[in-house]
Amino acid sequence: MVVEKIIEKVYSVGSRDWDRRLFDELIPLPDGTSYNAYLIIGSEKTALIDTVHETKGHELKRHLKTLKIEKLDYVVSNHAEPDHSGFISGVLEMYPEATVLTDKRCKGMLESMVNVPGDRVRTVEDGETVSLGDKTLEFIAAPWVHWPETIFTYLQEDKILFTCDFLGSHLATSDLYAHDEARVEEAAKRYYAEIMMPFRKKIKSHLAKIDEMEIKIIAPSHGPIYDKPSFILDLYKEWVSDEVKNVVLIPYVSMYGNTGKIVDYLVDALIEKGITVKPMNLTVTDLGDLAISLVDAATILLGSSIVLGGPHPTMVGAVYLANALAPKTKYVGVIGSYLWGEKLEKDIVGMAGRFKAEFLETVMVRGVPQDGPSEELDALVDTIVEKHKELGILN
Ligand code: FEO
Repeated sequence: MVVEKIIEKVYSVGSRDWDRRLFDELIPLPDGTSYNAYLIIGSEKTALIDTVHETKGHELKRHLKTLKIEKLDYVVSNHAEPDHSGFISGVLEMYPEATVLTDKRCKGMLESMVNVPGDRVRTVEDGETVSLGDKTLEFIAAPWVHWPETIFTYLQEDKILFTCDFLGSHLATSDLYAHDEARVEEAAKRYYAEIMMPFRKKIKSHLAKIDEMEIKIIAPSHGPIYDKPSFILDLYKEWVSDEVKNVVLIPYVSMYGNTGKIVDYLVDALIEKGITVKPMNLTVTDLGDLAISLVDAATILLGSSIVLGGPHPTMVGAVYLANALAPKTKYVGVIGSYLWGEKLEKDIVGMAGRFKAEFLETVMVRGVPQDGPSEELDALVDTIVEKHKELGILN
């Protein structure tokens, strides 16, 4: 990555990680990611906003040398996770006079996670400002997007908001700006789904705060930056709203093809009723695609075979993840095939405590589903149609 000028005296100096394919050993990254860091050169002082993953420290170092930065006064740490804080110690070694500015909760995390010496850290409060001369940094508390210690940094004179993970996307692209909107929307929705969705209520309050600010540029710590802030802010407002779409998501696992036949039947019947259906065979589905679909589907049907008297372990993993993401789904149903053992509903419902959804009547078919119409499955479809009509999302 090269140094990229955003405006006069404000530069993007981070790193793109084109090859990374997994985050947190869990989240697939089909498009890689970037670790954005920003340099602000004031008339009196210079500040670096966040750093990069430790493995990319050499790139940040090179960028600071390219810009001939001989003295760095501040390193702002908006968030302690190592993809942004991993090279703070490296920067402090390069610049012995530099001080880390961060939230009080973040200070201890930086000490514990990435060995930042506590005596090099100065904590800042919500609303506090730090002058760089002709430029002023303002710190804004923004807990739970997605860790408790996160802050935003606002460059007052230039009206740039540095939001760290918030509003970002795992997307390595040569574009500095989010001008390929369809691509960025997909990546940003995936990112929102995977780590932000459980904090919808907090996010609403952060969006309300941002609405009161004058912002020309939003610069997150992953993916392209936004010179049209309304693009990403409007998307987030839609995602965190209570509105759902006329979509039935059907994650399923089928050992002998019988649960698959039930899913096929439901897919056809729901399409005929004018409902968008997303069947996802969990043995081949990317977890990120599942997460994206959880953002606004009105109904989820969880389909599983029975293994040793309970749900298939692959389904257990998916339900655990979906429950942790706390989607705004309104209705959840359980479907499946069994020969012996019928604990499916009890086990799945027991794992889904964070779904604030109404559970529909479970439909279990013994053995191979018969060809032709099924009263039970038709009844489930009718219920879903009725519920979607009540929500006003189906005519
Ligand atoms: Fe990109 Fe929460 O770190």
